Amino acid sequence: MNNPLHAAYYADRARCERVRVVENVRLARDTFRLRMECPELACRIVPGQFLMVRLPECDDPLLGRPLALYDTVVDDGKRGRPSGVDVVYLVVGKMTGRLAALAAGAELEVWGPLGNGFAPQVAEHLIMVAGGIGQTPFPALAREHLGKRAYGDPPRQVKQVPRVTLCYGARSKEYLAGVEDFESLGVEVHTSTDDGSAGHHGLVTDVLTEVLDAGGGRARIVCCGPEPMMEAVARLAAEREIPAQVSLETPMACGIGICFSCVTRVRQDDGGWDYRRTCVEGPVFDAERIEW
Ligand SMILES: Cc1cc2nc3c(=O)[nH]c(=O)nc-3n(C[C@H](O)[C@H](O)[C@H](O)COP(=O)(O)OP(=O)(O)OC[C@H]3O[C@@H](n4cnc5c(N)ncnc54)[C@H](O)[C@@H]3O)c2cc1C
Ligand code: FES
Repeated sequence: MNNPLHAAYYADRARCERVRVVENVRLARDTFRLRMECPELACRIVPGQFLMVRLPECDDPLLGRPLALYDTVVDDGKRGRPSGVDVVYLVVGKMTGRLAALAAGAELEVWGPLGNGFAPQVAEHLIMVAGGIGQTPFPALAREHLGKRAYGDPPRQVKQVPRVTLCYGARSKEYLAGVEDFESLGVEVHTSTDDGSAGHHGLVTDVLTEVLDAGGGRARIVCCGPEPMMEAVARLAAEREIPAQVSLETPMACGIGICFSCVTRVRQDDGGWDYRRTCVEGPVFDAERIEW
């Protein structure tokens, strides 16, 4: 199947595996990093793609849930070949609540890699803007653009970016998850919180504005988080004529293009709009194309 608009095109390229949980550790309030052993899938996935995760032999919830690639796991001594993937999730409901109770050795069903992922960014300054749990697609993207790891099979070629910044907003300090993961990669991190308990007291778009005002080379923006925040970031980017991509977190049922439960309105070349499936034509879209 060679037609990318047909569900089979994506389904045929994804793997469905029963995987072992290696660890499931708390990173912040209600937020966990789950490590899964899945070398084949880990070799194929690129930043911005996601996995559907399902509890085996469980009918509540029956459907899998989409979780973004946080990063691949490369063990020392394996000559750069990844052994698994990390996802980071916020407990909001049934599935994420059950995931939080899993211990090492438990099994999960996963299928992926799914979705388009971020296109390689050619820039002097890559600015990642995250709100809530929206930081999860970015560690792999940062690592790749800082020239520290290649992703995909065959590994995709990405021009190294000299500077990578994360603007990360959360409700409060206790929800900021994985800041040290970004810092250890060499990412410049600026945080904001709604209650002022860490970083700037206010919106992440205030922080982004400061970073943009300070300059620092030809910028590109990537963004993930609640829709009103992504809309505000898209507006800021458009005002300053900075290319921006957003990764949407639209709820999904099948994840492979069949059910149309994940559609979003995307502007067309003729000025009109049409529905696009976030799971196969996204989750990453050019920000200027989204009909917010
Ligand atoms: C491509 C993609 C990547 C994602 N990556 C991550 C990730 O890396 N980490 C992470 O924590 N979450 C991520 N999400 C969101 C995640 O899929 C949902 O939080 C998850 O499906 C909730 O499942 P649940 O069974 O725990 O909650 P449910 O019991 O299904 O829902 C609980 C509550 O959350 C609401 N809800 C469920 N899904 C969403 C959503 N997508 N947006 C807004 N509200 C929602 C429901 O309406 C309900 O009120 C991603 C979503 C997409 C589409
Ligand atoms: S989730 Fe079924 S078409 Fe996208």
